[in-house]
Amino acid sequence: MKRKILVGNWKMNKTMKEAIEFANALKDKSIEVEKENIILGIAPSYLCLPIVQKLGGSLITYAQNVHYEESGAFTGEVSIPMLEEIGVSASLIGHSERRTYFKETNETCNLKLKALEKHDMNAIYCVGETLKEYEEDKTKSVIKKQVLKGLEGLSEEYISELTIAYEPVWSIGTGKNASKEIASDICKYIVDVIADKYGDEVASGVYVLYGGSVKPNNIKEYLDDEHIDGALVGGASLKPESFIEMIENIRG
Ligand code: PGA
Repeated sequence: MKRKILVGNWKMNKTMKEAIEFANALKDKSIEVEKENIILGIAPSYLCLPIVQKLGGSLITYAQNVHYEESGAFTGEVSIPMLEEIGVSASLIGHSERRTYFKETNETCNLKLKALEKHDMNAIYCVGETLKEYEEDKTKSVIKKQVLKGLEGLSEEYISELTIAYEPVWSIGTGKNASKEIASDICKYIVDVIADKYGDEVASGVYVLYGGSVKPNNIKEYLDDEHIDGALVGGASLKPESFIEMIENIRG
């Protein structure tokens, strides 16, 4: 049976002091659920990564982004070896805010995923359609392209351990979460696309998360669905009480 995954994406929120408060509040809970079938993670800012890593008990820490080069003249960027050295073992890739504001493409996401594979680091690869694409009924063609281009050239072994997050852009931070039916249909579709290209065995290992206005009051509905293995949560992951409420709701 697959474990359930709950990852909080803090985006550009929380000072170091606030991150320390959160990690301290979550520590015991993260250790408590470790024995259960739940994996908890947080993607803080680069600055807060080491402290959340140190204080967060069994919380997995994710970078929000990486550069695909090992080092060099890329002002403002952070490389995989830098993250590796502080014990970070995974990163989000291709979040829609990175795609929109920082012009990331399926091709750059692919380079980043390949670089992570080279370093044996996991990823949560984010995909999702815009409101316009959704309204034009292009969701599945957009998702298929994002998945196939993003995964191009990765080994089947790496793909079989990958986590993919379906985050419709129109549902992120808007309070307009996708219905469980839509989320379930697209999460299943992602696995089908991978199965068609790489075979059932590879596809069966992939975890697919839903993200977009997930809150304590709706998380269980998503995670009870057989095609949704977890949630990537922005706004509702910022307060420890709300994060703990989500954990409790998926436990029960
Ligand atoms: P949200 O963000 O939960 O605030 O909608 C989700 C995300 O961006 O991963």
